[in-house]
Amino acid sequence: MGLGYVGLPLAVAFAEEGHDVVGVDIDARKIEALSRGDSYIEDIPSERLRAASERIEATTRAANLSRCDAVLVCVPTPLTANREPDLGPLVNATRVLADLLQRGQLVVLESTTYPGTTRERMAPILEESGLVAGQDFHLAYSPERVDPGRTDYTLRNTPKVLAGLTEACGDQAEALYREVCDEIVRVSSPEVAELTKLLENIFRSVNIAMVNEIAMLTDRMDIDIWEVVDAAATKPYGFMRFEPGPGMGGHCLPVDPFYLSWRAREFDLTTEFIELAGKVNQQMPYHCVSKVERVLNAAGKPVHGSRVVIFGVSYKPGVGDLRGSPALKIVTLLGALGADLAYHDPHVPALDDGGLRSLSFDDALESCDLALIVTAHPGVDHDAIAERAPLVVDLRGVTRGARRTVLL
Ligand SMILES: NC(=O)c1ccc[n+]([C@@H]2O[C@H](COP(=O)([O-])OP(=O)(O)OC[C@H]3O[C@@H](n4cnc5c(N)ncnc54)[C@H](O)[C@@H]3O)[C@@H](O)[C@H]2O)c1
Repeated sequence: MGLGYVGLPLAVAFAEEGHDVVGVDIDARKIEALSRGDSYIEDIPSERLRAASERIEATTRAANLSRCDAVLVCVPTPLTANREPDLGPLVNATRVLADLLQRGQLVVLESTTYPGTTRERMAPILEESGLVAGQDFHLAYSPERVDPGRTDYTLRNTPKVLAGLTEACGDQAEALYREVCDEIVRVSSPEVAELTKLLENIFRSVNIAMVNEIAMLTDRMDIDIWEVVDAAATKPYGFMRFEPGPGMGGHCLPVDPFYLSWRAREFDLTTEFIELAGKVNQQMPYHCVSKVERVLNAAGKPVHGSRVVIFGVSYKPGVGDLRGSPALKIVTLLGALGADLAYHDPHVPALDDGGLRSLSFDDALESCDLALIVTAHPGVDHDAIAERAPLVVDLRGVTRGARRTVLL
């Protein structure tokens, strides 16, 4: 259930192992694309999808799940406007599932969520079917760890953490995932598995915030943060490299930690690291825009009317995912200051909100007063940007050493 960044790769992986897969999504456009053999997830090239498509039945009809041995729930877990967990999609999917649940079926939640969701939210809804979790059907939690765009660690060779509601539930889930994962890490309860995923994401969020805060300081101190990070990373132990940047994007890091901070309030605890990391990372686009203002000012130009071209608008290199991308905030802020904005991103043909379309690399460079490197996609010639643009602000440190470049 849910054929997005998480669900589609899982569907393809099981099909490739020879299993018949029913893929259900409420988004009819996705189902149409899949029926044509067109993938909308960059990690799954359409050729790979087509090679497996004989075994994948993509449908909007959840009823078809009733003949499955296992159902993996991969629906979104976003935040509400008040930054509280929005379990709406998960609750809806679970209700649908309760209506068609079969004795002996295995249900696994893959979506990222707070500890207690599988046991306290999913199980009671599924039990409205009259079947009892752990007795009549199996229920487990196994967080997805996919890192879109990554090729060295895949579903196959990334250890898969999982826990069943009961030992037997865990055994069933383990047997299932052994088909597509080399290493299974069993933990003692769904709550441990749920919190494991959140800890991983909070760890990244906090460390990114820390290096970003230091980057704001090194900017004032006129010290090159990249040189500092490079030097610190030579320590063979006790240091892990995190890079500064324009802020945090994607579906996970800006969202998931707040699932835990919300849950923590029920236990009279404020998770200060999570809040602080969110705050610092949210500041970064403002810092980046002020840097653009200063660089233009030093060249005798106001932001208003200056042609600022952004290179890379998706939230990370190599993918076209715009969700939570700090580039969107930067576009809004520079737009409000009257900048004449354009962008180049080989992965993002158009920005819906701003009405902008990606320019060709040459067109983008030709007209620009300032090139702003927000996301450094592989295959984009950043050296050429550094050479040809009159002014360059590089938020990713990819043009270090170039003459006119100003780093984050
Ligand atoms: N994207 C990632 O890199 C990543 C990594 C690890 C974990 N996760 C987690 O996995 C979950 C899914 O994330 P995603 O990135 O795949 O989201 P996504 O938005 O790409 O895909 C979710 C899909 O679920 C569908 N859907 C919603 N309600 C449904 C329902 N009732 N029945 C069937 N389909 C339904 C949506 O139409 C959508 O296609 C989230 O909890 C996310 O936090 C994501």
